[in-house]
Amino acid sequence: MARRMLVAGNWKMHGLGADLGEVTMISMAAEKNRRVDTALCMPATLLHRAAAAAPGFDIGGQDVHPEKGGAHTGEISVDMIKDAGGALTIVGHSERREACGQSDGDIAARAAAALSGGLHVILCVGESLDVREAGNAVERVTSQLKASLPADPDPNRLAIAYEPIWAIGTGKVAGPEEIGEMHSALRGALSESLGAECADKVRILYGGSVNGDNAETIFAVDNVDGALVGGASLSAAKFVPIIEAAS
Ligand code: G3P
Repeated sequence: MARRMLVAGNWKMHGLGADLGEVTMISMAAEKNRRVDTALCMPATLLHRAAAAAPGFDIGGQDVHPEKGGAHTGEISVDMIKDAGGALTIVGHSERREACGQSDGDIAARAAAALSGGLHVILCVGESLDVREAGNAVERVTSQLKASLPADPDPNRLAIAYEPIWAIGTGKVAGPEEIGEMHSALRGALSESLGAECADKVRILYGGSVNGDNAETIFAVDNVDGALVGGASLSAAKFVPIIEAAS
């Protein structure tokens, strides 16, 4: 099944007001590449201004709390992302799982709240280097996905991002064979959990040292429906070639 490609950027803890020009230039490039869905997931401090700097372009958050409000210092809610003009959020990024001690159940609750609140969700999974080197990556990541999935998700608003932790920010991108094996296994795990028809609509993105030089090779791999990009999404000069490679 052909699924629309999604190329999303994750700015992580980068971005000040002076960087909003990059957001506008990326949104203008997205306008010229309408066959691909594109988005930028911003730090909470910049979400609202980024949405204003790029009207009509999908801006999102990088995590979201499952509750509507309350005594959760440092967290933001679904309504806050929507109020700021956001259309999507990442959940379960390995950096958040590790820093905040988030369990697979926490991720499922966050994804469920975001989906029921009308946001699109990019749900991240991925293995550490020791798990990869021990030969347990497929088993570990497919189990992580099944335990992180919300019940009965809308497949048109849920994407999975496979981000091997050892490839994030390292320049060591996973090889086409590794990506193909994992994405095929994730498609199978989605089918077991959600049923084949629903699973077939869920997009599976690759993340981890994606750049303008390797994007085309990655996008040619079966069951790769786009990318979640960190460092190379911070500037139009680096991010637009990835969007164009997906077009
Ligand atoms: O969420 C995307 C991120 O984890 C990948 O980072 O810098 O390796 O593209 P990077």
